[in-house]
Amino acid sequence: MNIQTAYNAWAETYDAVLNKTRDLEGTAFRQMLAEMPFAEVLEIGCGTGKNTEWLAARAAHVTAVDFSAEMLRKAQEKPGSGNITFQQADITREWAFAAGAADLVTCSLLLEHVQDLGFVFQQAGRGLKPGGLFYFGELHPFKQYLGSKARFEQGGGTVELECFVHHVSDYMAAASKNGFSCMVLREWFDDDNRNAVPRIISFIFQLDNSKWLKRTEVKGAINNLINNDCNIKTVLNCRWSADYCLCFEKINHPISNSLPAIQVPDWSIIMPEWSKKWNDRGIFPPLAGLVVR
Ligand SMILES: C[S@@+](CC[C@H](N)C(=O)[O-])C[C@H]1O[C@@H](n2cnc3c(N)ncnc32)[C@H](O)[C@@H]1O
Repeated sequence: MNIQTAYNAWAETYDAVLNKTRDLEGTAFRQMLAEMPFAEVLEIGCGTGKNTEWLAARAAHVTAVDFSAEMLRKAQEKPGSGNITFQQADITREWAFAAGAADLVTCSLLLEHVQDLGFVFQQAGRGLKPGGLFYFGELHPFKQYLGSKARFEQGGGTVELECFVHHVSDYMAAASKNGFSCMVLREWFDDDNRNAVPRIISFIFQLDNSKWLKRTEVKGAINNLINNDCNIKTVLNCRWSADYCLCFEKINHPISNSLPAIQVPDWSIIMPEWSKKWNDRGIFPPLAGLVVR
């Protein structure tokens, strides 16, 4: 039975039958994303919508994708809001549904069915805005080494699905090759028993943002702007296409203190509250950004 057929068959019982992996990933997902800011979300392998509703309650819009018509049907049956667009598609093929507009791409318990991790990171990068986040939660490789894999009961027998083992180093390599940096990595244990083999591994990666200056570039860039009569919008439009123009590691960085000198009254500092949240959680460096209005 191929993976798609198997999920069509599993859909009827997926939500109803006890499944520690499904439930612990749900916990990981909610805890990891609780403090993250996002408006436009792309969820791949949404299944019966275990996490979709939660996302939709917090986002402006969610695109939820799966290749199993039956899993999607179950997801659509759930009482949901009108801000979810469901789409049937195979995520091992080019993501026609990804438009570079997402703040967040998520997938849960999907990658064990995907051989080519690099392709998923590449397509996630296409789907995200610069600086966007990619969350995923998977069966921990330690469990995979011990033989665990997605399976369900049908007609008195057990159906085992085709799965691929992904080592932690595979995830990290695929991420960095496609311009992502790891922001958070967590392991999740049954009954919180940290002496046992972890069941779930979850990550948040961030797409490196070429529009944001690296620390080492900031001083030179500002000097450049000052030396060029502050024709800043022109410079921005050449070098960066969207809103963001500069980013500092600290809001009170000495360089940012020199900003009034460049006299751009219609610039305002954005994202200090995000920066604080991320910083409090020890996840992101305290970023401050400037946006041109
Ligand atoms: C274990 S279920 C997880 C569903 C949901 N994310 C959850 O956590 O409960 C895996 C889901 O991935 C979907 N899936 C697997 N391979 C896929 C592919 N190549 N393209 C799209 N969906 C896929 C399956 O149809 C199934 O709904």
